[in-house]
Amino acid sequence: MDGDPLAYHNGAWRPLSACTVPINTHALQYGTGCFEGIRGYWDGQQVNLLFLREHMERLHRNAGMLLMQTPEVDELCAIAVRLVRDNAPRCNVYLRPMAYKCSTGLSPKLVDEPDGLMMYILALDDYMDTAKGLDLCVSSWVRIPDNAIPARAKATGAYLNSSLARSEACLNGYDEAIFLDTNGQVSEGSAENLFMVRDGVLVTPDKTACILEGITRHAVITLAREAGIAVEERAVGRTELYRADEVFLCGTGCQVSWVRSIDRRQIGSRVQGPVSSAIQQAYEDAVYGRSAHSAQWLTPVT
Ligand SMILES: Cc1ncc(COP(=O)(O)O)c(C=O)c1O
Repeated sequence: MDGDPLAYHNGAWRPLSACTVPINTHALQYGTGCFEGIRGYWDGQQVNLLFLREHMERLHRNAGMLLMQTPEVDELCAIAVRLVRDNAPRCNVYLRPMAYKCSTGLSPKLVDEPDGLMMYILALDDYMDTAKGLDLCVSSWVRIPDNAIPARAKATGAYLNSSLARSEACLNGYDEAIFLDTNGQVSEGSAENLFMVRDGVLVTPDKTACILEGITRHAVITLAREAGIAVEERAVGRTELYRADEVFLCGTGCQVSWVRSIDRRQIGSRVQGPVSSAIQQAYEDAVYGRSAHSAQWLTPVT
């Protein structure tokens, strides 16, 4: 894939550099878009898109929540497949579809404003180092409450919240931030869901903790239950993390990345724990076509 891949923009196919928007675009001014991140794994012969349909279903639903319209899910999937096919990458890739308000009016209202759709592709291997063990901090920035900006909508404007937390973490020498919600309970990372292991049980904040309802989170729960690991979705207290045997993050970007410290407290022993290792391995097997899940989870682009 060269440096200026083909992209999709409002019905047209053009080089990415030619896909531009006016400076007074609603979405640019007010953050009125919603998006997805989809990985494609190169298996040596073809790119396999992971959870393509699930991502497009989420985009379609979230657009509706934000009073936007997108093409039907089948059409969104077809655009994604063509994007990969026409660019013919021979590496791992990341697809970014986005629905957005493309009008140029001054009012921030969502109704009666036209919608745009874009989709582009980039080469992407690791977003985070999945091997080294991450050093996290609890952010001083609170997760946006659902009745302010819904995190589950994956709205572009909501990512200012993530940007602030992630930047603070980087400036203070951490790899990533953990948000607490307005009740002071653990929510998620800036772009990842969070799991901890306590007394053999895999625990993750429930869907009312202002999280994005992650597709990888769902896959992790499936893999854990299959491995006979009990899973609880419940409120998680900050200091429970300090007492956890294991903590890991998951998401399309970070995949499954284990955590070695939070707020400079060591988590578990110094090495990756057995649960996160097993989940990471099962996930990797699935995305590289080596497990019983692969056929269902992957869309091959030939
Ligand atoms: C805020 C946030 N939480 C969680 C996730 C993980 O979601 P998924 O597994 O669907 O990629 C993401 C992914 O982009 C995210 O932005």
